[in-house]
Amino acid sequence: MAESDKPASRFSRRSFIKTAGAGAALAGVSAEAQEKKPEVLGPDASTITLTVNGAPRQVTVEPRVTLLRALRNELEITGAKEVCDRGGCGACTVLMDGRIVNACMIMAWDAVGHEITTVESFGTPEKLSPVQAAFVECDGYQCGFCTPGMVVSSTALLRKNPNPSLDEIKAGLAGNLCRCGTYGRIFEAVGKAAKNMAAAKPAAGKAAKKGE
Ligand code: FES
Ligand code: FES
Repeated sequence: MAESDKPASRFSRRSFIKTAGAGAALAGVSAEAQEKKPEVLGPDASTITLTVNGAPRQVTVEPRVTLLRALRNELEITGAKEVCDRGGCGACTVLMDGRIVNACMIMAWDAVGHEITTVESFGTPEKLSPVQAAFVECDGYQCGFCTPGMVVSSTALLRKNPNPSLDEIKAGLAGNLCRCGTYGRIFEAVGKAAKNMAAAKPAAGKAAKKGE
């Protein structure tokens, strides 16, 4: 075959140098990127800090551990209950940055940097919160398993809407199931809490003025 008939080579010396240069540049970028790679955590346990009811709490958990299990099993904060463990019943309801969430659907590691509020922060046996007191007053429970979640959701609802209608109360508690079927008395309790809180407001204002 005559020299001129040969197919043109796909690689010239010039193209080889260009390719090698680009490769070297890429190698440099990836080395730089590797240096900036985020720290890899898991699958072993790591120590993280959760902010629960205003206090920093350290737990050492694997990435597969839910916020609910970290609260209950590691921190012994057992107000939130594990019932369905799949986001279907609301027994594990807590507040995350003031919004209701199912703690069984949040990984503990994902809760880092957020404010977690559990039912334990609302009141004490000696001094119940208005919502807790209304649940007692209206007999708003039977087995009580759904009650902590109901109280958390009701409290969040009344913070947003201090005077909810019955339909708004039902909508506010739509994510919380009560297997005992105590709904009528639970809804009554939320209405009662709203009234008691509204009635307590002017009294609190007057007391504050007297103390001026
Ligand atoms: S236990 Fe979390 S929603 Fe049922
Ligand atoms: S009181 Fe028993 S599940 Fe609600």
